[in-house]
Formats: sequence, structure tokens, C-alpha cells
Amino acid sequence: MNVPAPETGGKGGAHARHVAIIMDGNGRWAKKRHLPRAIGHQKGVEAVRAMVRGAKGLGLEVLTLYAFSTENWRRPEDEISDLMGLMKKFIVSDLDEMAENNIRLKIIGDYKAFKGDVVELIEGALKRTASNTGTTIAVALNYGSMDEIARAATKAAEQGPITPETIAAHLDTADLPPLDLLIRTSGEERLSNFLLWQAAYAELWFTDVLWPDFTADHLKQAMDAFSGRERRYGGR
Ligand code: IPE
Ligand code: IPE
Ligand code: MG
Repeated sequence: MNVPAPETGGKGGAHARHVAIIMDGNGRWAKKRHLPRAIGHQKGVEAVRAMVRGAKGLGLEVLTLYAFSTENWRRPEDEISDLMGLMKKFIVSDLDEMAENNIRLKIIGDYKAFKGDVVELIEGALKRTASNTGTTIAVALNYGSMDEIARAATKAAEQGPITPETIAAHLDTADLPPLDLLIRTSGEERLSNFLLWQAAYAELWFTDVLWPDFTADHLKQAMDAFSGRERRYGGR
């Protein structure tokens, strides 16, 4: 993914090609209902499924979903294990449908740090969908923007001078269109180490809706808001 150029945006009316979501609020969703956090994460997976199903109808080329950050290792072991379990379950239950719907799966982040069985399932899913040409669903796993930029800068330095272009060419998102719109649910208004570089000129959209309650209609609402915005990229 390159540094966005003015011609990729517009004076309003543009359609978002690449949307990313910080899927936050599973824990609070559960807490409000006096349920275990694991149930919140389970409901969160259902919201992921709805997004994956809805992305094509909304005309999205790429939907990038923040599922596990490099900082999420700070959580208790049982919660991490619940999240890994849900991830495995999701791949097993939904891979066929995604493959049949021409979805290409992509992972950003250092997913190889996960346990062997998780890595194996992920790589199977990547292989299975690699030649698909429809919507790309990019899942951020063990992803941290600072880690990504450090890895990209290291690779760029091995090959020549470090410039914004050579760093961008080595980011995990290098093959994706520029990020248009970044959404965060649950009322928090921070990036939490997500797509810091790519968000340089992305539009931001925050909602109080907790992730398990987020629907394709909310996504459409965000995309409509995006279409109404004027992106100037520092020009006039
Ligand atoms: C987002 O929900 C899911 C992950 C970070 C994996 P949280 O678990 O962060 O939910 P809150 O923020 O505690 O409500
Ligand atoms: C960001 O949410 C990470 C994901 C959604 C995967 P967090 O809940 O981890 O972020 P903070 O800790 O509130 O910043
Ligand atoms: Mg959170």
C-alpha cells in the first residue's frame, strides 16, 4: 500500500474501497449482561461473520479487521486461550463459505507466533483462498503497527535507502489499496497501535456501539459518512 495520492480520494461522493475496523467492546457487552467475557468474544465472532457476509454487498474491496494485537498478550492466559479457540472454530466453520464466495483471506501481523495448530489452520485457509478475486478480508493477528513498521524498515534498509515509499512497500498491507476509512467501536477514540502508517490520511469514524452489536447497517452508515467527506491530503 502506497502513500495515498489525491486522485485516490475525492471531493466527497467517493466510495470507500478499503475499510478497517478496530473491533472493540466484547468484554463490556458481556459485562452489561452479567455474562462471562468469553460469551462477549463469541458474540463478537458472530459480528465478524456478518461483516464478512456483508462486505461484498457494500462494494468493499478490502475489509481489514483488528482481531488480536501485539499488546493483547497482556491479557490473562485463559482469555487468550478462549480467543485462540474461537479463531480456530471460526476457520473450521466458515472457511468453506468464504472460499465459495470468492473471498481472499489475508493476515497482517506476525501470526507465526501463535501455537502450531493455529498457524496450520491459518495457512490452510490462506492457501485455500489465495487465488480468489472477490473481497479481501485482511485479519490483523498478533498485529502491532510499531512492530510492522520496524519490520518493514529493516527490510527496506537491507535493499537500499529508507524512504516513505520503500517502507510502505514492505508493510504487511503493501498489496492492498490505500486505507480509506478506519472505524472503532465501543466509544474509545484511540488507535491502539493499529495501522498508524496507513491511517495517515484515512478518515476516522467512531461509534459507541459495542462490537457484538455492530451490524452491516452500521458499516453502511460509516461508509455513507465517508462518502460525504472531503479529503484534501494537505492540498486545497
Ligand atoms: C475486543 O473486545 C476484542 C479483542 C481485543 C480481542 P475487548 O475484549 O477489548 O472488550 P472490552 O474493551 O474489554 O469491552
Ligand atoms: C484493540 O482493542 C485491539 C483489538 C480490537 C484487537 P483493545 O481493547 O486491546 O485496546 P485498548 O487496550 O483498549 O487500547
Ligand atoms: Mg477493548
